[in-house]
Amino acid sequence: MLEIQDLHKSFREGGRTHAVLEGASAAAAAGEVLAITGRSGSGKSTLLNLVSAIDTPDAGAVRVAGAEVSALPEPARTLYRRAQVGFVYQFFNLIPTLNALENVRLMLELNGVGGAAARERSRAMVARVGLAGRESSAVDQLSGGEQQRLAIARALVHAPRLLLADEPTGNLDEATAREIVPLILSLARDAGATLLIVTHDAALAARADRTLELRAGRLEPRAP
Ligand SMILES: Nc1ncnc2c1ncn2[C@@H]1O[C@H](COP(=O)(O)OP(=O)(O)OP(=O)(O)O)[C@@H](O)[C@H]1O
Ligand SMILES: [Mg+2]
Repeated sequence: MLEIQDLHKSFREGGRTHAVLEGASAAAAAGEVLAITGRSGSGKSTLLNLVSAIDTPDAGAVRVAGAEVSALPEPARTLYRRAQVGFVYQFFNLIPTLNALENVRLMLELNGVGGAAARERSRAMVARVGLAGRESSAVDQLSGGEQQRLAIARALVHAPRLLLADEPTGNLDEATAREIVPLILSLARDAGATLLIVTHDAALAARADRTLELRAGRLEPRAP
């Protein structure tokens, strides 16, 4: 389903070139859960940005269901990202001016689903993450754990093929992280989405199908 092939990516910094990815390759089947580890600055977020086509590689390819998304021009890259990718971030990235339900519904509206269908699907997804009854709450009335639940609902409501999570428990206390991890994994598995989850959390990595470590610009298999 997902093929990451020989990705190279460098950034220019004050006249110098800093190579971040130097031949990163990996593949994941539909519904597979891959944990990605690596020290700070090793390029984990850079890799996710290439998979989601927010950024383009200097060389190499990202293929999703056979389509080379890394070679798409704009606005096709944006359409791919909207329709086929869901994101969960460390700092939730919810829209503070929208209430809980509206944050989830927005993803459907961006994909052309509106009206009662969008309302019902959003309500059902909010309930699946345990937030039934909180639909009208403002984002800042939700706790950190509740905000991350809502972010998970937003990430999955449009049934993306790919779920990308960048340190999704990095800003949560340990007890909350222990509830959020199984929620992400079980909802991704139920949806049949391929999950790439960047984490420093060994317990989280241990629950993935495989763990890959980003080291010297490449993805290396790591014992679970
Ligand atoms: N847009 C950019 N412009 C210049 N340099 C960048 C850019 N994005 C990332 N980098 C550099 O690329 C390297 C990898 O960054 P990246 O954010 O991918 O690391 P990371 O593994 O996600 O780290 P962390 O665990 O701290 O989140 C860093 O040295 C960073 O400064
Ligand atoms: Mg990062």
